[in-house]
Amino acid sequence: MTVPFDDWVADNYERLWPELFVPSAIDDVVDVLEALAAGRPALELGIGTGRIAVPLALRGVEVHGIELSPPMARRVLEQPEGERIAVTIGDLAHVSAGSSFGLVYVVRNTITNLTTQDAQVAAFANAAAHLEAGGVLVVENYVPELRRLPPDENVHVFAATPTHVGYEEYDVAAQIAVSHHTWVIDGQVRSLASTHRFVWPAELDLMARMAGLALRERWADWTGTAFTSESRSHVSVWEKTA
Ligand SMILES: C[S@@+](CC[C@H](N)C(=O)[O-])C[C@H]1O[C@@H](n2cnc3c(N)ncnc32)[C@H](O)[C@@H]1O
Repeated sequence: MTVPFDDWVADNYERLWPELFVPSAIDDVVDVLEALAAGRPALELGIGTGRIAVPLALRGVEVHGIELSPPMARRVLEQPEGERIAVTIGDLAHVSAGSSFGLVYVVRNTITNLTTQDAQVAAFANAAAHLEAGGVLVVENYVPELRRLPPDENVHVFAATPTHVGYEEYDVAAQIAVSHHTWVIDGQVRSLASTHRFVWPAELDLMARMAGLALRERWADWTGTAFTSESRSHVSVWEKTA
C-alpha cells in the first residue's frame, strides 16, 4: 500500500485533519522548534504542505525539507515565505538535503509512514548524518494504543461522525496498523487507507542510540507535560554528541 499523499489529500489536508491547524497545534510546536534550533538551520523530514515549516520560517529560522510527495511539497511554495524553504523530493530515510543542521525534526507521526524497521532505522541514521555536533533530532509520535484492543479483535474505531469514519486495522505480530478513512466532503464520498509501522518510544531510543544520538528530553506534548504511562503521544529530543 502506498502513502496516499496525492493531489486530493494535498488540496484538502486542512479540511481532512482540522485539528492540526488550530493555533495551539502550530504555535506550541513552532515555539519549541525555534528554541531548539537556537539560530541554526533546521530540516523537516516529511515536510508535507509546510504546516509547521512555514510558520517556523516566518520566525526567521532557515528551514529545509525532505518530502516524498510532489503534490504536498508544491503547497509549501504556494504560501507566503514558502519560496524561502528548499524542499528536496525523495525518501527521508535516504536522500540528502545537503548542509549541516542544528535541528532535524519529524512531526505528526510521520516516522510511522516508514513501514519497516529497516526504513525507520535508516531514517534515524539519515537524520543524524544531517546534524552538526550538539544538534538535536525531534520526533513527535503517538504511543501505540494496543490496550484499546480487546482479545481476539484487531480493529479500533477512532472517528465516527456523519462526515468522517476512521478505524485502525492492526496486525500486531507484524507491528503494522492500517488507518482507514472515509470522508464526505462537498457531498462526495472519498476513502483512503494508509499503512503505518507503529513503534514504542523505547524502540526509537534504540534507533537513536544506533545513530549516535542520546535522549535529552521526552515530553507528552509540546508544552512540556510529563510523559507517563497514560500519555498517548510523545515529543522526544535526542542530541548528537560530539
Ligand atoms: C502525516 S504527514 C505530515 C506532514 C507535515 N509534517 C505536517 O506536520 O503537517 C506525513 C508526510 O510525510 C511524507 N512522507 C511519508 N513517507 C515519506 C518518506 N519515506 N520520505 C519523505 N516523505 C515522506 C508524506 O508524503 C506526508 O507529506
